[in-house]
Amino acid sequence: MNVNGNPTRTIAPLPDCSGFVIIDQTRLPFRYELRTLYALADVAETISVMRVRGAPLIGATAAYGVAVAMNADCSDAALDAACVTLAATRPTAVNLAWALDRMRVCLQPLPPAERRIVAWAEAAGICDEDVTLNQTIGRHGAGLIRAIAERKTGPVNILTHCNAGWLATVDWGTALAPIYTAFDAGIPVHVWVDETRPRNQGASLTAWELKQHGVPHTVIADNAGGHLMQHGRVDLCIVGTDRTAANGDVANKIGTYLKALAAHDNDVPFYVALPGPTIDWTLPDGRAIPIEERRADEVTCLTGETETGELITVRVTPEGSPAANPAFDVTPARLVTGLITERGVCPASREGLLSLYPERG
Ligand code: MRU
Repeated sequence: MNVNGNPTRTIAPLPDCSGFVIIDQTRLPFRYELRTLYALADVAETISVMRVRGAPLIGATAAYGVAVAMNADCSDAALDAACVTLAATRPTAVNLAWALDRMRVCLQPLPPAERRIVAWAEAAGICDEDVTLNQTIGRHGAGLIRAIAERKTGPVNILTHCNAGWLATVDWGTALAPIYTAFDAGIPVHVWVDETRPRNQGASLTAWELKQHGVPHTVIADNAGGHLMQHGRVDLCIVGTDRTAANGDVANKIGTYLKALAAHDNDVPFYVALPGPTIDWTLPDGRAIPIEERRADEVTCLTGETETGELITVRVTPEGSPAANPAFDVTPARLVTGLITERGVCPASREGLLSLYPERG
């Protein structure tokens, strides 16, 4: 995707492989700041405090985290320690465990002296594959948008939740890839962007990247989606997922389930876009998906920019009122119209997934 008109990835190694560069997403949409990470502890902190976030990008960052750890020490013990440290940063997105497993399987059999170079190549491979997967998701999903465009006049109105866009991946995004593909093909689209409290990934990140790419969009309060659906102002919903169980249940940002319920009640198609590494084939259904509980101050406080350009954080609750912050919820497969994957679109069911991934049967 373009940032200030330049094609940009969200993560990139330094030419000498001494570290890698990320966009600090905690500063968006107010500041576009890059950070270079050279040490395992910095990478773990970056994922934990959500300087990078979004399931595929968490996986890609963890892969480069192993690579920077190998720069310091290529021993078996260091490889184990890196994987354990990174695996503990965020629990819900299965792409994290997937990427760490892949790094371990690639590096463990090698003599330690060979691990450093291979680690950087493998992390780069994970990133390149993510881009290809998302482009393909974009093509499959754009077909759904095109079909709606052919049946109506005016733009196709698509509601999305959280940020499952370019910023959540290495490039293109998952839920937003079909939207970018449709937009680039000249199909008129308009995106309803759920603000996505408590951390406002929709208002801060999705709105920012859609604006960078020139895609028409409107930010709405999280509670507005049901009303818009009742009034025929949403043609379809597309969201991402952090972990999809083998039966098609999907974990995604808190509030996704409520949107799926509203879509179901109003006959609005509700699609979930995901790359293969987001499927957790070990889980028969979504009940065992670990749900991250984050800090209460993400609920009690908000950060924004004043008219003079200063970034400030303010409390919006009475001092001392407790707050709870479950960061994800699970939408049952029965509320999902279809899964948009790199292998095509399928029903959200075990049979549907196996029709695209028969090798998992
Ligand atoms: O807590 P976050 O911002 O990492 O949550 C991100 C989401 O819920 C995304 O929708 C999901 O990771 C899919 S990203 C392509």
